[in-house]
Amino acid sequence: MEKALDAFCLEGRPVSCERYGMGHINRTWLVATDAGRRYILQQLSREAFHDIPALMENVRAVTEYLAERTDDPRASLHLIPTRDGACWHRDGEGEAFRVYDFVEDSLCLQATETPEDFVQSAVAFGRFQYQLRDFPAAALGETIPNFHNTPERYRQFDAALRADPLGRAKELGREIDFVLARREEAGTLQRLREEGSLPLRVTHNDTKLNNVLLDAKTRRALCVIDLDTVMPGLSAFDFGDSIRFGASTAAEDERDFDRVKVDLGLYELFVRGFVPACGGLSAEELQSLPWGARLMTLECGLRFLTDYLNGDVYFSVACPEHNLVRARNQFRLVSDMEAKWDRMRQIAESAR
Ligand SMILES: Nc1ncnc2c1ncn2[C@@H]1O[C@H](COP(=O)(O)OP(=O)(O)O)[C@@H](O)[C@H]1O
Ligand SMILES: [Mg+2]
Repeated sequence: MEKALDAFCLEGRPVSCERYGMGHINRTWLVATDAGRRYILQQLSREAFHDIPALMENVRAVTEYLAERTDDPRASLHLIPTRDGACWHRDGEGEAFRVYDFVEDSLCLQATETPEDFVQSAVAFGRFQYQLRDFPAAALGETIPNFHNTPERYRQFDAALRADPLGRAKELGREIDFVLARREEAGTLQRLREEGSLPLRVTHNDTKLNNVLLDAKTRRALCVIDLDTVMPGLSAFDFGDSIRFGASTAAEDERDFDRVKVDLGLYELFVRGFVPACGGLSAEELQSLPWGARLMTLECGLRFLTDYLNGDVYFSVACPEHNLVRARNQFRLVSDMEAKWDRMRQIAESAR
């Protein structure tokens, strides 16, 4: 690790380097130097990311753009250059490293402690949309191709169903019917995107609470972190995935499906934090937000079901039926959103 650190232009000499945070993808260390500076060192996951040069180019472009537009150094991430002037370093074994300034006096929550924490995550991701509203989103690399292309996810499901390598399809009649009955509407966002009815935006694509830093004193949104999945997309993607994860009344793998519902109170709080922070979404975009919630949830359930058919090759599982439980859980959430659809639309459309 110390060797990798040598590659970067730090202020002072490193005096400590300890594992840090609760991230599940990269390996993260907190580094302190004898000049009293602190940094975040990360080794990027080569398993999760297949095009690290493109990924780091996205991160560099977005962080530089944000830094040029704010005076507050804690309002965005700052990459520390290497001695060669690059924004990341590949060591002799092919491992990829980067260094950020440590955002001091910040708080990273694993779970909300109050509803206001959820509002602040909405503000952080909405503000991210706003700050990048004029960024040329199409110039970003699509580091995970077709990430939220739901019709393409259906094609992957079709292929898994045809192959059915473990003979699991025969127990899945209800789930398969559920998915196929929604094929047409599942293409709504992709169609609007292709038609150009919705603006192409910079999306974060991993809008979990622990990818937001709050100010430790005020507990208000400071910045978003973990920009590894930043890509061109729709505002409905970030909004929708936040609702899928943050406004569900149960965990993603809760087996008591009667407990899985969308909490309209939390949904409304998120809308009221997100929409104003985005600073002017068009009428079409406002209408797309509840679709984002519904379709990100359907798509996620579809991916779990596809992986179950494929023999659990993508998502890690703790038991053989784990992906099936997750899929059923997400489908239950979709059904609850369908039942509450009119209200979800009213809340979004009245938020302008
Ligand atoms: N610049 C930073 N300043 C302070 N803490 C950070 C910074 N970058 C990351 N962290 C902490 O490290 C954790 C893991 O970083 P993250 O980039 O989210 O990695 P992963 O992709 O593994 O989730 C975060 O949840 C946060 O606690
Ligand atoms: Mg993270």
